[in-house]
Amino acid sequence: MNTLILNAKDRYSIETCAEIIRSGGLCAFPTETVYGLGANGLDGKAVSKIFAAKGRPQDNPLILHVSSFSQALTLWRDVPEAAYRLAEVFFPGPLTVICKKSDIVPTEVTAGLDTVAVRMPSDKYAQMLISACGVPVAAPSANLSGRPSPTKAEHVIADMDGRIDAILCGDDCRYGVESTVISLVDEPVILRPGAVTPSMIAACGIEVQVAGSVLSPLKKGETAASPGMKYKHYSPDAKVVAVQGVAMDLTQKVCDIYDRSEGKKRIILASAENAPYYGDRCCEVIGKRSEPVTMCEKLFSSFRKYNDYDLIICEALSPDDEGLAYMNRLLRACGFHIE
Ligand code: TXA
Ligand code: MG
Repeated sequence: MNTLILNAKDRYSIETCAEIIRSGGLCAFPTETVYGLGANGLDGKAVSKIFAAKGRPQDNPLILHVSSFSQALTLWRDVPEAAYRLAEVFFPGPLTVICKKSDIVPTEVTAGLDTVAVRMPSDKYAQMLISACGVPVAAPSANLSGRPSPTKAEHVIADMDGRIDAILCGDDCRYGVESTVISLVDEPVILRPGAVTPSMIAACGIEVQVAGSVLSPLKKGETAASPGMKYKHYSPDAKVVAVQGVAMDLTQKVCDIYDRSEGKKRIILASAENAPYYGDRCCEVIGKRSEPVTMCEKLFSSFRKYNDYDLIICEALSPDDEGLAYMNRLLRACGFHIE
């Protein structure tokens, strides 16, 4: 398949992509979290093509992207008051809300579940595209299944060129990790952490739990509240090593692991605070430990950049509130093993 590569800033590119989606095709587009791979969310046949293009397991449901809260309301039923409160504060933005689904949502979107995930992105090109489509846009991250989510247009081109109708190239993604997913079907629970943290949700007066699968692997026989959590995710070909410790203890451990793997291609993904302690070892500063949201921004793009290395050594953060999204991704990339 010939894939159109379009610049979001060019005239007509948004309309071209909207027409592709309306007529049942697939188009990747930027959002503020990661790039998405979009199809007409009300067209079951179009949605099925997403699973084929990504090599995604059929039992993993998709998020519907909307351009307004009133459009979200057409996709849900029995909407709890908490959904209105969250939308008021976090729509548009990096929060996905799961409620019971309405009859117009095809089963291909929800993988047969009675619930549907909805999000309203804040990226301006995403908003323009979804409005121009006039339908909700079903979109998972625009990577091949199992690979790190794409945060730059070049990542999408690397994974999807030749597999989909078009790629709308916009800015690099501001957050660099996927949206926070919260289910309001029973008691509010965070199924996947993101830039919207538990304390930000609590500040809206909503008591929220964090699903156990966010920081630990599913036990044998346990069913995932969010099907996506049961798959190996976010991993580059390189071995990812996560290192925890306090202050000098952490930096010393990182240096030891680095020095022990002499002769291998290795890189330290460092925080700005700790980078000076790594001396002349090969290292890239990805953000500040004091602002975990900045550590998320470059995590996936660094995984891709150093994909063919032997070893990527990462600093663990404290997995509370702001550090939760970073640790959720890091733990999956290193197979839940922390040094
Ligand atoms: O930031 C994002 O959310 C990006 C951009 C493109 O919007 N999208 C994204 O989609 O990350 P995806 O498909 O890669 O992840 C969606 C997650 C999966 O873990 C899936 O299992 C879960 O949301 N999910 C979707 N619908 C669900 C439902 N009805 N119940 C439980 N989990 C659901
Ligand atoms: Mg994904």
